[in-house]
Amino acid sequence: MHLYRSALLRFSEDGQALYDEDGLLAIGPDASGRQRVQAAGAWHQLAPQFAGHPVTHWPGRIIAPGFVDMHVHYPQTDVIGSPAEGLLPWLENYTFPHEKRFVAEGYAAQVAEFFLDELLRNGVTTALAFATSHPHSVDALFTEARRRQLRLITGKVLQDRHSPDGVRDDTEQSLIDTEELIARWHGLDRLGYAITPRFAPTSSPAQLRGAGKLAAQYPDVWIQSHVAENLDEVRWMRELYPRSRSYLAVYDDFGLMRGRAVYAHCIHFDAADRVLMRERSTAAAISPTSNLFLGSGFFDYQAADCAGFAYGLASDVGGGTSFSPFRTMLAAYTVGREGQTKPGLSLSPQHLWWQHTAGAARALGLDGVVGNLQPGCEGDFVVLNPQATPLLARRTAQASSLDELLFAMIVLGDDRLVEQTVISQAKYGLCA
Ligand code: GUN
Ligand code: ZN
Repeated sequence: MHLYRSALLRFSEDGQALYDEDGLLAIGPDASGRQRVQAAGAWHQLAPQFAGHPVTHWPGRIIAPGFVDMHVHYPQTDVIGSPAEGLLPWLENYTFPHEKRFVAEGYAAQVAEFFLDELLRNGVTTALAFATSHPHSVDALFTEARRRQLRLITGKVLQDRHSPDGVRDDTEQSLIDTEELIARWHGLDRLGYAITPRFAPTSSPAQLRGAGKLAAQYPDVWIQSHVAENLDEVRWMRELYPRSRSYLAVYDDFGLMRGRAVYAHCIHFDAADRVLMRERSTAAAISPTSNLFLGSGFFDYQAADCAGFAYGLASDVGGGTSFSPFRTMLAAYTVGREGQTKPGLSLSPQHLWWQHTAGAARALGLDGVVGNLQPGCEGDFVVLNPQATPLLARRTAQASSLDELLFAMIVLGDDRLVEQTVISQAKYGLCA
């Protein structure tokens, strides 16, 4: 058992932030050896019962849950900042040509290493990530994630049509590969598999049908894809699948909507789509820096809350422009402003932070496992230094409430704010 002493941020069941100026976080192994939070709260209340255990004291720092990135493409690490008119030309001119490079195993391994370092540097401790259509791109990411004991979910991209040579896969083989990868990796240590049709336009009905069958056969495996991101994409989908009620309904028609299914973007929805999301316990990964960069549109928070479906935040690198959860939370605030129809703040800082931690974990079906620091959660956390830059130091020193402090960090923060990222007691970062 190890004790950490500093300011401590956690979340209650209903998403409210809990904050101890002088907090205690006790982390120790459970019966199976996995590091979990044993206690969290005010130092003066808890310290007496943990006397004798070693203590790491970080004065002036804030311990907070590791961030959860609900949608990110590891092969697009080097695609960030590629400008295009919109999604479809961006895919054709930058993304597909780049993903072809992952045919080389050594290249995939090298990018996987860099990508995971970058997640950790930014305080992201759990991710639902796309690989490429090459099965070994999945092996590369899982291998590196396992070495770092990360909780990571990924899958081989399924795309058997409307894709160039080098990334297009074969329908039957793609499903065989998916099943083999599930057998090899799903549930191993902290790893999980996601059945990953890229998006409906690049999968034949036969491939989506096969993916749906696997989703039924392996109910605790995740499903990830994109939906209703861009208007040209939505129009194209209507031509390709004219019999489905909507773009989202295509996935439902093939059995690809259920708990543990996560769809990125969910922008160009109607009311029936939103109800379907809730009825199928399917979650949205909101990717505001990507949506702003590619000009895709604005996620409608108010309509999502009215319908009551689950959502959380995501970087969507490389359509997204940053690995930093602070950049993503700030962009989400901007997007929330755009759709705002009632007075007041669109999204509170606590709600933004929750969407990238405990809320995202809940949307992934990992409530109480990651994204929070309540007893029982796995012990992944970040150590934030509010004095990391002169402006952060100056601004946070003047914060007179928790909301002001959180907002100052959301608006001014980036990777410099994250002094350390701790996974299962292993420390990554400045003081590691
Ligand atoms: N739709 C299909 N593929 C992609 C992708 O790689 N990124 C984004 N943002 N949207 C997609
Ligand atoms: Zn994406």
